[in-house]
Amino acid sequence: MKGIILAGGKGTRLRPLTFTGAKQLVPVANKPVLFYAIEDLVEAGIPDIGIVVPSDFPMGREQIMGAVGDGSRFGARVTYIDQDAPRGLAHAVGICRDFVGDDKFVVFLGDNFIREGIANTARAFREGSMNATLLLHRVPDPRGLGVAVVEDGRVIELQEKPASPKSDLAIVGIYFLDRNFFEAARGLVPSARGELEITDALSRLIEMGCDVRPEMVVGYWIDTGKHIDMLDANRLILDTLDARIDGEVDAESTVSGRVVIEAGARLVRSNVRGPAIIGAGAVLTDTFIGPFTAIGDGCTITSSEIAHSIVLDHSRIEHIDERIEDSLIGRNVDLRRAATRPRGHKFLLGDNSSLELQ
Ligand code: TTP
Repeated sequence: MKGIILAGGKGTRLRPLTFTGAKQLVPVANKPVLFYAIEDLVEAGIPDIGIVVPSDFPMGREQIMGAVGDGSRFGARVTYIDQDAPRGLAHAVGICRDFVGDDKFVVFLGDNFIREGIANTARAFREGSMNATLLLHRVPDPRGLGVAVVEDGRVIELQEKPASPKSDLAIVGIYFLDRNFFEAARGLVPSARGELEITDALSRLIEMGCDVRPEMVVGYWIDTGKHIDMLDANRLILDTLDARIDGEVDAESTVSGRVVIEAGARLVRSNVRGPAIIGAGAVLTDTFIGPFTAIGDGCTITSSEIAHSIVLDHSRIEHIDERIEDSLIGRNVDLRRAATRPRGHKFLLGDNSSLELQ
């Protein structure tokens, strides 16, 4: 079996972070979201992985290739497959035809993850006679999602973002497929939003009479496409970390709960209440870090309070009196209260930034 991870796309919902970086590299609990997919595939015995990268976004493409390399440090063999433009999920899978050959394969959206991994489903799919297995997750309101209708243990119909959903079973962004998918995707026409839709290809698979099975995901499923989803994912993963202190905590600092302090990080008169992770080389001084917070490598945080947030590498936050919460702060951000008067707010914000002052 082969693995495919889709890491192209527009990433419009995660702007401005996606102007300068691939969204699949935004970290959850200080690990790029893409790495969770690679680890799940390797754990399921699928080390041959094709990663679809965007050739029309060279910066994101280079970042992904730089971060993952040849995959050997994950125990994987990675092949990069260029997508010329974000033409849709069915297009992105379609260009993997040569990479897949006649093998069965599993497609991971590079920004999706599930708690339980895919090892059991992969084993059943490898050994079974079905043509596709779709992972499904029960959600209270599936209207903005792909929805599956299941009857007698088969998926019999799919709906894309239906106004009146026929079930509460959302389609998770992890698909087990065989070569029939390429047949189904042939001749698809772009949807109203101009993309070749995977739901259309999967519907064709059902129409062709292929055996499409459902598999329920019982733990959490997160699509990290939006800022609030990243924070949710961060919260859930931080809650599973094993506490570990490899950095320095001075006598006037306290650490409580599930907290990881990476090597080279330093706490000076600071208080970290877990679940939280403090990246390598970060320095916290006179600071409070509250639950569900991930501070990236090399950050400097002084006289500030941060909770339920993600701060990416090498950002500097100083003397912010109000607590920072529910925030996603990019790399190399400089956020500080001026020491001199007059004290008006001074902003240098990129396009599509979002700032809420109270
Ligand atoms: P989406 O999140 O559905 O699409 P997007 O990345 O364009 O984001 P947005 O809606 O915010 O503009 O994509 C799911 C995953 O699939 C994501 O990892 C990007 C990837 N993808 C491709 O590789 N090629 C594509 O053509 C598309 C549409 C997505």
